[in-house]
Amino acid sequence: MSKIVLAYSGGLDTSVLLKKLILEGNDVIAMTADLGESDASTALSTGSASGDPAAELELVREKAIALGACDAVVIDARERFVSEYAYCALRANAKYEGIYPLSAALSRPLIGALLVETAHAMGADTVAHGCTGKGNDQVRIELAVRALDPSLKVRAPLREHPLSRPDAMAFAAEHAIPLKHTAEKPYSIDANLWGRSIEAGILEDPWNAPPEDVYAWTASPQRRPAEPDEVVVTFEGGVPSFDGDRGPAMIAKLNVLAGRHGVGRIDLVEDRVIGMKSREVYEAPAAVALVAAHQALERLVLTRDELRFKAACDQKYAELTYDGLWMSPLRTALDAFNATSAQRVSGEVRVRLHQGNATVVGIRSPFALYDETLATYGQGDAFDHHAADGFIRLHGLPLDLVARTGKRSLAMDTA
Ligand code: ARG
Repeated sequence: MSKIVLAYSGGLDTSVLLKKLILEGNDVIAMTADLGESDASTALSTGSASGDPAAELELVREKAIALGACDAVVIDARERFVSEYAYCALRANAKYEGIYPLSAALSRPLIGALLVETAHAMGADTVAHGCTGKGNDQVRIELAVRALDPSLKVRAPLREHPLSRPDAMAFAAEHAIPLKHTAEKPYSIDANLWGRSIEAGILEDPWNAPPEDVYAWTASPQRRPAEPDEVVVTFEGGVPSFDGDRGPAMIAKLNVLAGRHGVGRIDLVEDRVIGMKSREVYEAPAAVALVAAHQALERLVLTRDELRFKAACDQKYAELTYDGLWMSPLRTALDAFNATSAQRVSGEVRVRLHQGNATVVGIRSPFALYDETLATYGQGDAFDHHAADGFIRLHGLPLDLVARTGKRSLAMDTA
């Protein structure tokens, strides 16, 4: 018998796990992390990030207690998720395979950290999660736990005994576990402030277009406003703010605004950590708009060399995050690099939201390296055109040399 902290969402799988671990004779503490999922989930239907997320999470906590958990905690980790995870990823323009802003991937190391902290606080020797054996999330949670406390035991009951949906439903019925899921929408959904992921069901065949019912945060093409909205995102040292707010509430608000225009719909066949390909649909209105804005501002204020070098670092950053290596020394080192270049990533970005696109239409910064008097083709051109002549001669010198030897060797060949 162990004392186990279980990462608990309140859904079918983790409720079945909770019960099974209790039936094994363990003391189980349910740990639920609030990463802002419900702040955004009611957005499209109500037009505002309302609902009552706190009340919803209290119901999850009560459900765990009703199922026999010896304790149940809900941890509000929204602020931490945004400042220590999402905004670090934003400074890296992080998109896996150039497309997916890594919403789920960013949340798992934080959930791992919260499991470890809860285990320490409650004197538990084991942590558990409901990930299956073929997904990415098991890797991310467990590598975070190992990095923070290798002495903790980790249980992954769905890997020990894979559970089919009908079996889970039957077990739930037998043990009075209330069901919210219906048979018609058999998607696996994960969400937090940085985005929503939808997989399984009809999406498993990549030939099937995603049906409209997979989307909850983004408007369908028919329901998008005819007129664009424009937002001005302000960056200070790489940290965004909008309407004077830089925290979770700002991201929730941006999810609503950009989601109304259908911004951030992604349909991707991606490469999982364990080697297989999978098809995932995402909605990430705020993340997509913010990365576009951040990247445009970087192009204005960073030097050519910084941008070229950083592009390679950014790709590595996304891969580390996706692959569960968030807690690795390389990620920390890349954060230090990004923190240095971010010192000049301050300014304002105008983003136009319209018909599924977040388009940057204006940028300005006190650190702009763009100089209109150099760039202009109009009056007041300050560029020294004559200097270009000498530059081209020296820049092309190696080519001159090769061309000369080339002629010589050709001459020898034909001699
Ligand atoms: N494929 C994404 C990732 O690995 C999302 C996984 C989230 N899970 C889900 N049930 N949709 O980061």
